Amino acid sequence: MWLITGGAGYIGSHVVRELTAAGEGVVVLDDLSGGDPVRLPAGVPLERGSVLDAELLARVLRDHAVDGIVHVAAKKQVGESVERPLYYYRENVEGLRTVLDAAAAAGVRRFVFSSSAAVYGPTDADLVTERTPCAPMSPYGETKLAGEWLVAAAGKAHGMATASLRYFNVAGAASPELADTGVSNLVPMVFQRLAAGQPPLVFGDDYPTPDGTCVRDYVHVRDVASAHLAAARRLTADPDAALVLNIGTGVGVSVAEMVAVIGEATGHTGVTPEVGPRRPGDPARVVASAEAIAGELDWRARYDVRQMVESAWAGWQARHPG
Ligand code: WQD
Repeated sequence: MWLITGGAGYIGSHVVRELTAAGEGVVVLDDLSGGDPVRLPAGVPLERGSVLDAELLARVLRDHAVDGIVHVAAKKQVGESVERPLYYYRENVEGLRTVLDAAAAAGVRRFVFSSSAAVYGPTDADLVTERTPCAPMSPYGETKLAGEWLVAAAGKAHGMATASLRYFNVAGAASPELADTGVSNLVPMVFQRLAAGQPPLVFGDDYPTPDGTCVRDYVHVRDVASAHLAAARRLTADPDAALVLNIGTGVGVSVAEMVAVIGEATGHTGVTPEVGPRRPGDPARVVASAEAIAGELDWRARYDVRQMVESAWAGWQARHPG
């Protein structure tokens, strides 16, 4: 039985869907601060509460005979983490430590951790590999890097197979009700502008990239979910596994390209984006090398940016009818 923390959230619910569809038993722990029970498939039990609640964790692991954990629950806003670092360290690092403590005490043997490309610093690398030095640029990224260390150390000390998965820019939805309800990333921010009759805002077009706008590695949340299933299976087969893997496509897409795809997919063609100043802290280019995960888990992304945008737009429209 797998415990998915944060399983009612945007990414967690896609992991729940993927694991249950593959026949795995799943229980969800979520405090519903960002999650919504409507995202859960029928029959998946929801335990409502915090990852900081050690007693609750001990009971949930025992009651549901949990022997694997996918720890997705976390705070994930880079800007907010700069304002509230203590809160981010408590939620993301102390929360993880509490889950690992309960896991070790309960004899859990498999642990998958949601990490982030935010562990990398500004980089000149064409493709970021897992050996690219880590130098997080925000408290958020620091909590994810510290989290990876905790997971690796606890896994080694307590006999848990572990995988830290570094997500790049996640977008899209498997179905409208699973879509991201936050408006803090490029795709939903452009949707919001277009829906309000405003042109998309591009944060800087004077970067050293082919079209001057920032380049990122957008990965469909369905692909992110399938990577978790592949990791879960691997940890089951290999009790000594201690993996750290990028989840990306290896394909760079610029903000200007992304905005054009969004215009086409949403029927807002002919809208000229507005170019604003650079957003502080944005690196010019962050694109994953997806070689390690292909080699380790035989996983590769299957969906492209058009599919991400179309599926995300269906979710946006379902929540903003008319
Ligand atoms: C993408 C690009 C913006 C909005 C962040 C975190 C990262 C990870 C994913 C969690 C950038 C540009 C955006 C807009 C724009 N999160 N942009 N106009 O910053 O690459 O990554 O989310 O793990 O850690 O840092 O994602 O979606 O905010 O921005 O031009 O209205 O779009 O400048 O170049 P980012 P993003």
